[in-house]
Amino acid sequence: MELTVEQHRIPLNDGNSIPVLGLGTYSPPATTPKGTCLESVKLAIDIGYRHIDGAYVYYNENEVGEAIRTKIAEGKVKREDIFYCGKLWNTCHPPELVRPTLEKTLKTLGLDYVDLYIVELPMAFKPGDAIYPRDENGKYIYHKTDLCATWEALEECKEAGLVKSLGVSNFNRRQLELILNKPGLKYKPTTNQVECHPYFTQPKLLEFCRQHDIVIVGYSPIGTSRDASWVNVSSPPLLEDPTLVRIGKKYGKTSAQVALRFNAQRGVVVIPKSFNPKRMTENFKIFDFSLTDEEMKDIEALNKNIRYVELLMWSDHPEYPFKEEY
Ligand SMILES: NC(=O)c1ccc[n+]([C@@H]2O[C@H](COP(=O)([O-])OP(=O)(O)OC[C@H]3O[C@@H](n4cnc5c(N)ncnc54)[C@H](OP(=O)(O)O)[C@@H]3O)[C@@H](O)[C@H]2O)c1
Repeated sequence: MELTVEQHRIPLNDGNSIPVLGLGTYSPPATTPKGTCLESVKLAIDIGYRHIDGAYVYYNENEVGEAIRTKIAEGKVKREDIFYCGKLWNTCHPPELVRPTLEKTLKTLGLDYVDLYIVELPMAFKPGDAIYPRDENGKYIYHKTDLCATWEALEECKEAGLVKSLGVSNFNRRQLELILNKPGLKYKPTTNQVECHPYFTQPKLLEFCRQHDIVIVGYSPIGTSRDASWVNVSSPPLLEDPTLVRIGKKYGKTSAQVALRFNAQRGVVVIPKSFNPKRMTENFKIFDFSLTDEEMKDIEALNKNIRYVELLMWSDHPEYPFKEEY
């Protein structure tokens, strides 16, 4: 029997749950025609996707929200069937900015709440209109980062009903511990969204998060778009990996489906991005086969411990997360 994605949810430490497969929605605004995201998210919901990963800085949250509202109006889904994850950008970390920023996102989406709201990066930038503030020499302008103060403001948003679950993204172990050990902590992070795929399997962070009941959401789960403007393309293309191709052949599946199944099967949420109907459908078909223990081990052994998403342009930020081992 083919299982549907509704049956594939992972419990979160706050009593909510997250669909193990979601649709990523980052697509470079300059090269993505307006309306593509809208049509893609509508189609995704028709295909069966119930989890959509978005962000203010993807510049298409209005289209995501319109797609969700359209499908609710059509009676295809109810609001509670949909799981939307939004993200707090680096320029909005000061506690007094957190709630107004989330309220702005809700207005853009046309929704009353988001299911998950995450701190996109543990690095604060100078607040203001510039998303990527720079000085006259082109150097990024950072800001004092107080992750615990930002977290407390997020907790207030949860208590006000603007968000169901709180999480983080690109946090290393030390940064997670800052929150976990915060005096008076009301809500633990439910999720940590980080790069995760067969070439970057995150064994230590995954184990740490398991110990603390934090779910890993794996971004770039099929190896990114390989857009050299932000991706480290010196790491080889994941989907051409011979082991993934070989295992896929056995099941009549593609290397992308094997990579997604690998993470889902070990409890890592996957959010592959595609705005292509054929590939969106393909990426959804990961619940009608399973990998053997030996195949899981073979795929784990592919780990190269090299990131596609290094964010080296911010490596001089005091809270740059990727210098520590994990
Ligand atoms: N928190 C963070 O810092 C962070 C960072 C990066 C990403 N993310 C989130 O994670 C999502 C996914 O990551 P990502 O976009 O970097 O990479 P990804 O999902 O690993 O890969 C997306 C690329 O693969 C192509 N693709 C999709 N399905 C395919 C298939 N079955 N076969 C071959 N190619 C396929 C897509 O093109 P088509 O659209 O043409 O199919 C796109 O170019 C993002 O969209 C975003 O929501 C978060």
